[in-house]
Amino acid sequence: MQDNALKTTQHILLKNNLQLILRPARPEDAEPLLAFVEQIAGESENITFGPGEFGMSVEEERAFLRQVAMTPTSLYLIAEIDGEIAGTLTFSTGKRPRIQHAGEFGISILRKYWNLGIGSQLLAYLIAWAGRTTIIRKINLRVRVDNLAAIHLYEKFGFAHEGRISREFHIRGQFIDAYHMGLALDPSSETATAR
Ligand SMILES: CC(C)(COP(=O)(O)OP(=O)(O)OC[C@H]1O[C@@H](n2cnc3c(N)ncnc32)[C@H](O)[C@@H]1OP(=O)(O)O)[C@@H](O)C(=O)NCCC(=O)NCCS
Repeated sequence: MQDNALKTTQHILLKNNLQLILRPARPEDAEPLLAFVEQIAGESENITFGPGEFGMSVEEERAFLRQVAMTPTSLYLIAEIDGEIAGTLTFSTGKRPRIQHAGEFGISILRKYWNLGIGSQLLAYLIAWAGRTTIIRKINLRVRVDNLAAIHLYEKFGFAHEGRISREFHIRGQFIDAYHMGLALDPSSETATAR
């Protein structure tokens, strides 16, 4: 099977009866994705950039999406509601053989869609897809120590706290620590279940 055939499209009914589509991003998503990124930059201080700080042009974003689509251990997942990008999850591993089994992800949902289960659906997709690649054996993340909703979500899916690093973020003159969290993948498990 071609590796990218593992990046399937899924249709899910959310708690409040909204129809959620999870699908891999395509190069033509570049422009709406940059608009999404700019919106979340203004909605949350739990991500690594603020408004106007993302720093990628539409052409660069398109090239990035092309690259991700061609890489079997990279994922750019879009959560779509009524044609609107409601959230994204991005994941990539190292390129060289000794580090290709491990990667880090980032996840963001538009504020108006928080607490509907979209983050959980994106994570379940990531874990199931990563297992099916049979290459990926470890999923890592970094999260602000005060981001309780995200930490709750990661613990629910079995991510373990692996360490705390100081001064990960520097926002308006304040340093904020981050946890490193990780999930080891059992090669025989394909499905993700929240705890
Ligand atoms: C963190 C984030 C991705 C969660 O997405 P989401 O779609 O709201 O996630 P879900 O609805 O699937 O789950 C949220 C869970 O957190 C819980 N939660 C919400 N606020 C919480 C809080 N203050 N403390 C603890 N748990 C909280 C919810 O009850 C829910 O738990 P449950 O599934 O056991 O009921 C989303 O809030 C977001 O994009 N935030 C801004 C960017 C960000 O923080 N990204 C992560 C960076 S590491």
